[in-house]
Amino acid sequence: VGDLTAADLKGKKVFVRADLNVPLDENQKITDDTRIRAAVPTIKYLISKGAKVILSSHLGRPKGVTPKFSLAPLVPRLSELLGIQVVKADDCIGPEVEKLVASLPEGGVLLLENVRFYKEEEKNEPEFAKKLASMADLYVNDAFGTAHRAHASTEGVTKFLKPSVAGFLLQKELDYLVGAVSNPKRPFAAIVGGSKVSSKIGVIESLLEKCDILLLGGGMIFTFYKAQGLAVGSSLVEEDKLDLATTLLEKAKAKGVSLLLPSDVVIADKFAPDANSKTVPASAIPDGWMGLDIGPESVKTFSEALGTTQTVIWNGPMGVFEFEKFANGTEAIAKKLAELSGKGVTTIIGGGDSVAAVEKVGVADVMSHISTGGGASLELLEGKELPGVLALDEVERVAV
Ligand code: 3PG
Repeated sequence: VGDLTAADLKGKKVFVRADLNVPLDENQKITDDTRIRAAVPTIKYLISKGAKVILSSHLGRPKGVTPKFSLAPLVPRLSELLGIQVVKADDCIGPEVEKLVASLPEGGVLLLENVRFYKEEEKNEPEFAKKLASMADLYVNDAFGTAHRAHASTEGVTKFLKPSVAGFLLQKELDYLVGAVSNPKRPFAAIVGGSKVSSKIGVIESLLEKCDILLLGGGMIFTFYKAQGLAVGSSLVEEDKLDLATTLLEKAKAKGVSLLLPSDVVIADKFAPDANSKTVPASAIPDGWMGLDIGPESVKTFSEALGTTQTVIWNGPMGVFEFEKFANGTEAIAKKLAELSGKGVTTIIGGGDSVAAVEKVGVADVMSHISTGGGASLELLEGKELPGVLALDEVERVAV
């Protein structure tokens, strides 16, 4: 059984690994419940089929049992979204947990305590994985955000519990980040931003193999400008990546990919929200000034290029959008993608800061897909296989 919908679920104990690693404030209040909402469809499906759901997740990076990393604050929201009272265990293995599992009714949900309270989780110790596995009849991995980790609850457990299948969220992430990107409706544009080219080399190289248009923004563009001999003032530059930037530009040319760098930039006299700012051509950044956003002319050029596409993937902001003065480029791209989505273009937002930007602009709901993974979506876009996915029995990769 490689497919959750093909599995016999009635009365079965199902170990579901989700990524409920949501941000909490100092009062243990959830500040963004996206990951909980994203986990709901699989759990609801299991409930509707009469399964007994044993739900597992990590939260944060605790060193041993740490109360502030307990999953307890998640119970009310999870119960509300599922429409049933979720039972919470104080541990994730052991006799107390076993008792709770034994008393779970069909359609009931038991939330285990933070699986990272045991160091064996991250070490992927077989004995620990075996204990997790021993509680259930079936394993469902829906923790896309943690699928790049070979941990006991994401990878090791599959060696002791069959069938091991993907949940709906994991499958959807793969359909978009692998399926739609490998076999795109063309023209296919990739927008890559973020502060450092060094953290996006793999993504750019991998997307260069697949896309027709590549738009670059964010702090990384200054390394490209400098590589082309332009003056960049005090903008962020990775001196040791200048050759690499040149190589990437040459590669794009050789592959016939239309690579666009911003033609104008918004510059600042300091890295601060209240900095003095002005817009200048990319070739005219004065000494002492740093680029913190792409300019309006670039937004126009990028928007025109995007207007010709059928598939767009976006990873990384165009500027320092946390500062209002330097948020225009990122917000304009988010709005453009929302408009394109409305016209039937496949729009994929790949993890992290670009997701925050799309949410800030209030257009998250209209995108074709917003990834719930940061590191995991980056690795997939780099073309890597994820251990949590490889460990499953069979995953169909469907182009959308
Ligand atoms: C994330 O937030 O990216 C995932 O939950 C994985 O968390 P980790 O980086 O602590 O493994």
